[in-house]
Amino acid sequence: MCGIVGIASRNKVSSREVIEMLKRLEYRGYDSFGYANIEGTCEKFIGRIDGKKITDIGSKVSICHTRWSTHGGVTKANSHPHNDCSGNIFVIHNGIIENYLQIKEDMIKKGHRFKSQTDTEIIAHYFEEYIKSLPIEKVVETFFKEAKGEFAILLIIKDDNKIYAFKRGSPLVLGVGKGKNILASDIYAFSNITDDVIFFNEDEFAIVEDSNYTFYKIDPKLKPVKKDVVKIQWAQKEETKEEYDHYMIKEIKEQPEAVKRLLTSLQYEQKNNLDSLKKMIKTSKRVVFIAAGSSYHASLLGVSFLNKVGIETHTSIASEFKTFNLIDDNTLVIAISQSGETMDVIEALRGIKQKGVKIASLVNVPYSTIQRMSNVSINIQAGQERCVAATKTFTNQVLTLAYLAHLFGYEFNVNNIPEKIESIFDQEDHIKKLAKKLKYKKDIYIIGRGYVYPIAREIALKLKEIAYIHAEGMMGGELKHGTLALIEDGVPVISLIPKEDRSIISNTKEVEARGGYIIPITNNPEINYPDKFIVKTDYELHFCIMSSIVGQLLTYYTAKEKNLPIDMPRNLAKSVTVK
Ligand code: F6R
Repeated sequence: MCGIVGIASRNKVSSREVIEMLKRLEYRGYDSFGYANIEGTCEKFIGRIDGKKITDIGSKVSICHTRWSTHGGVTKANSHPHNDCSGNIFVIHNGIIENYLQIKEDMIKKGHRFKSQTDTEIIAHYFEEYIKSLPIEKVVETFFKEAKGEFAILLIIKDDNKIYAFKRGSPLVLGVGKGKNILASDIYAFSNITDDVIFFNEDEFAIVEDSNYTFYKIDPKLKPVKKDVVKIQWAQKEETKEEYDHYMIKEIKEQPEAVKRLLTSLQYEQKNNLDSLKKMIKTSKRVVFIAAGSSYHASLLGVSFLNKVGIETHTSIASEFKTFNLIDDNTLVIAISQSGETMDVIEALRGIKQKGVKIASLVNVPYSTIQRMSNVSINIQAGQERCVAATKTFTNQVLTLAYLAHLFGYEFNVNNIPEKIESIFDQEDHIKKLAKKLKYKKDIYIIGRGYVYPIAREIALKLKEIAYIHAEGMMGGELKHGTLALIEDGVPVISLIPKEDRSIISNTKEVEARGGYIIPITNNPEINYPDKFIVKTDYELHFCIMSSIVGQLLTYYTAKEKNLPIDMPRNLAKSVTVK
């Protein structure tokens, strides 16, 4: 994944100021970070970005990087920037060079010495090797030809006032400022500096200086291209933790507001977009969602809502989309992605876009790659979500999907969802008590049938990623086909029991008979267990959203009991920009 920033400025910019920009990209990875400038200074640190660790120096051209490790462990040597043998070339990279071993072997044969286990370091040596005899533009052409995989790369050379920027697959954008130009993985890195932006397209290369820039398309030779400057309307404000201990709890508590904002926006500002999407669905033979993680769970609910109103709908996990064979000219693909940058989703969309299939999307981040790839896009209006775990964005994805189905006759009470969510917050003390018990558990099972099954999976995902507890979200009916063997005395089973579902009561009893510790989430007054949660509603959509929020709170307080790094759990990142 990784986040990259580079700045070329007429006046010197302090290293700490550049690191501040990088801090906004920390959602892309937080294993280690580093900085380099054209004077040859290079510093790297393990752990989360902390500007105070960097020596406060000024430079007209500098680059910095936050890492989510792919090739090579979390070590200082593997942190970016990487440099060549002479120490003149510094490189930062987001993506993966798939054939790096081959290029590395070749460079070693040519006498280069490597200091890291990364794929990135080959770039510095490659340029060192070839710029001895060729102009850099020629080396760029051969690099694009030889390197396989995805990359957004920034390269600087000692005492040269330029940044060389390359893009294939991974996101890269240029912010055009007054007397300074900034390159970054996303526009939010420089949102306080400029509104004027140029998005890189595939296989583009740019040479960027303080007051000018030149873009080239690799085709396969470099051809200069004219680029449009886009004026950004900043719709999302940068969120802070305010009085909360963590972003996660703040974001959970923001849900009533986020839901109201979404509903208003769907009824007014986004009405035209929604009408276009409705028309696209009407004129298509089938709808296919593509998504990953929590967004995939939202899509499972989307399938259930749309099928209910007679629309043929399927969903595919983005990384498995290659095995999905139902795409034709009459298919409407709807990508669901909070970040709008998930590489697995983008990859799937690229393939079908080339075939001319229509693409719609539900995203939370304006100007994201997926939004820009779509024929029509709905913004889920959750506001910036900073905790790695999806909470308010999941709720707003589900609500947007239900609203879409509502346009075709799916029934739910649109207006009282915020107060229904508030009613879950009234049970917080109960949740905190339960968290004290759950923190000692190694495994938790969550069961649900029919439309609530995706919520079982979503709660399990939250418990795994934030509370570090192995959890499985299952179809209630499947338990007896194997997993029941794992139930013994005291194993917690969260059972999602909507009033009308008698079968899940039987499944719950089967677990209880084997010593399972039952935690029901239910709107059925007949269900009686000491640790039950009541969700007061008669609508299936409300039941889903409300029980998911019980799961979010339970996860939060369990992780808090365990003193875990809730907002930035180990090994993860908010935006998953590698395959
Ligand atoms: C879980 C979570 C992830 C994301 C997944 C897809 O809490 O946040 O599973 O849902 O990485 O991300 P987006 O929605 O940005 O495509």
